Amino acid sequence: MRGLIILALICWACGKPGGSEHPNSAKFQQYYNQGEQLYSQHCSNCHQKTGTGLGLVYPPLNKSDFVDQHFEEVICLMRNGRKGELIVNGKMYNQAMPATTLSDLEIAEIATYIYNTWGRDRGLLEVNQIATQLQQCDSVPSVR
Ligand code: HEC
Repeated sequence: MRGLIILALICWACGKPGGSEHPNSAKFQQYYNQGEQLYSQHCSNCHQKTGTGLGLVYPPLNKSDFVDQHFEEVICLMRNGRKGELIVNGKMYNQAMPATTLSDLEIAEIATYIYNTWGRDRGLLEVNQIATQLQQCDSVPSVR
């Protein structure tokens, strides 16, 4: 009986967008779902619910060459914010993103969401890996 319930849960999870490639990991689903909620609380005001950004004020996360290519910087700016010129998909942005008070785990969860939705499939980004990256943000000049 218990096995059936777990199977049903896994099948429910495999129909969710972004998580479909990882139906076997309850931990992945937990991070992803938590990350989706945190994203809507802490990021979607500016970057919008579907990650499209807003005009030339807030850059997109959904289809962003910056998100695809600058993983370390993305993790660090989630904590430290960022300001100055920034080119995303060939367009110039230059507004400030404020620093946050998110924990290492919350950043790992949001990262797992962002890197597994909108066509991305990077898998689980575990808190230990993200904590290590966060300790190295001093060497990422634009988000110090
Ligand atoms: C108050 C508005 C605001 C909030 C809230 C905000 N951002 Fe940003 N974000 C910005 C701005 C403005 C920039 C561009 C900064 C620059 O020009 O240097 C940016 C840049 C970025 C970038 C790099 C550029 C890109 O689009 O690929 C990422 C990734 C990002 N933000 C993710 C997040 C995440 C994740 C959250 C939630 C934890 C978040 N932001 C919350 C305004 C915001």
